[in-house]
Amino acid sequence: MSKQFDVVVIGGGPGGYIAAIRAAQLGFAVACVDEWKNDKGGPAPGGTCTNVGCIPSKALLQSSEHFEHAGHSFAEHGIEVQGLKLNLAQMKKRKDVVVKQNNDGILYLLKKNKVTFFHGRGSFVAAKDGLYEIAVAGDKLETLSAKHVVLATGSNARALPGTPFDEQLVLSNTGALDINAVPKKLGVIGAGVIGLEMGSVWRRLGSEVTVLEALPVFLGAVDEQIAKEAQKLMTKQGLGIHLGVKIGAIVVGKKSVTVNYTSAAGAETAVEFDKLIISIGRTPNTIGLNAEAVGLQLDERGFITVDGDCKTSLPNVWAVGDVVRGPMLAHKAEEEGVAVAERIAGQHGHVNFNTIPWVIYTSPEIAWVGRTEQQLKADGVAYKAGTFPFMANGRARALGDTSGMVKFLADAVTDEILGVHIIGPMASELISEAVVAMEFKASAEDIARICHAHPSLSEATKEAALAVDKRALNF
Ligand code: FAD
Ligand code: NAI
Repeated sequence: MSKQFDVVVIGGGPGGYIAAIRAAQLGFAVACVDEWKNDKGGPAPGGTCTNVGCIPSKALLQSSEHFEHAGHSFAEHGIEVQGLKLNLAQMKKRKDVVVKQNNDGILYLLKKNKVTFFHGRGSFVAAKDGLYEIAVAGDKLETLSAKHVVLATGSNARALPGTPFDEQLVLSNTGALDINAVPKKLGVIGAGVIGLEMGSVWRRLGSEVTVLEALPVFLGAVDEQIAKEAQKLMTKQGLGIHLGVKIGAIVVGKKSVTVNYTSAAGAETAVEFDKLIISIGRTPNTIGLNAEAVGLQLDERGFITVDGDCKTSLPNVWAVGDVVRGPMLAHKAEEEGVAVAERIAGQHGHVNFNTIPWVIYTSPEIAWVGRTEQQLKADGVAYKAGTFPFMANGRARALGDTSGMVKFLADAVTDEILGVHIIGPMASELISEAVVAMEFKASAEDIARICHAHPSLSEATKEAALAVDKRALNF
């Protein structure tokens, strides 16, 4: 006998568990199926984000930043530290505790919202009489049936052909978050978000980090002015960034990995690393879904094909998050999860792809929303730009963190904000104001006329908005 639900969600990451909660709030009987196991074999919902992504990486970024401050900037504040020592085991233990708090929090939220959680792998069995039958292979085999199915099965790290992840020497994000001793020499292939965040963690803890990037430009998706500033600052911090390289043979030895590559200048180079992180993007995960049983359509890159409303090729089957097109971001997955639940309820769920913020949690942080200057030029849009450096912000000086700037891009005629780009302290928090402003179609002048607390980093946002009209007050 199958257990019947209105909605079965497969995948308990940010896309899935949020879709399940919203559907339950809307009055549906909901099941959420997730197969992630903790180290004791128990359920660990939250997906990549909670277990080997957003949360543990931010925990290690925070810890490693404290370590770097204690070693390098406390003295300037008149705090003398003697005998500073890294306890990596404790740092990792703290990270694991933070992850578990989030796993437990999600289990609590599912229960609170009366979502039935199933721990195991969910796969399609068949579709009949308007219902989908889903098998869940966990400790025992369960069969569920539902009219609506939401697929939120996430993504996996992409390997380089011929060099599978062993998580000992060749590391994906999973291994990169779980290294037992600080590697003397750490190689990173791919100067994207993971490469820079994880490269920063291990550099702060003492590794000599070399980042090898195929593209000739640094952070090509980021506003050029901001990306240039980021490259300058990260190079100064000690990240060895090599652009325009062509990776050749990777030879995995017993205790080290040798990467052969051709540099941008054409020089054949071989470097031996103690560990190698490969962070060259992620691939959608549909392994184990048994999509063929019901004829679910995937695109040529393996993503589940969806329309603008996250509808798949099958009636009443929806897909959200990393397993479908669009940015692979937890908050994008969540927004899609909410919108799908609302569409199932006959409402008009909506995700505005133009106002999804991006954040890179390096130091300084990089955050942006909307279009870059190079995109506006390519689109032939007449725009005005205003920038304000944190160097001229009182709070940033008090913090001792004055690198970077806020940059506004506004329509030359209407003054509507088209993009906001920040590199600097707390950029991840500051960007929210810009997202709200863009959602409300605000002009740069709107932000410029709003009272911002003093002294605060957010004054740099106001000043950058003033600078659009060439009337910054403090610079
Ligand atoms: P996932 O989080 O991958 O969850 C999918 C879940 O489905 C998993 O638990 C999986 O086990 C389960 N599953 C898959 N197939 C089945 C099946 N057949 N049956 C049962 N369960 C199944 N994004 C941000 O926005 N901010 C960040 O700071 C950030 N940092 C990141 C850092 C790293 C190192 C990485 C790797 C990613 C980071 N991301 C970040 C990206 C973010 O983790 C993803 O965009 C997000 O997790 C996608 O959510 P999702 O629900 O689509 O998939
Ligand atoms: P990415 O797409 O951010 O970066 C991959 C980089 O690898 C690119 O610069 C690409 O040019 C380069 N590359 C690709 N093939 C290569 C090759 N053969 N040799 C050398 N370089 C090569 O992907 P990444 O860093 O793996 O992260 C995956 C996704 O996870 C991100 O796109 C993002 O969506 C998400 N994420 C988000 C975070 C955040 O929001 N702060 C943090 C970490 C990950």
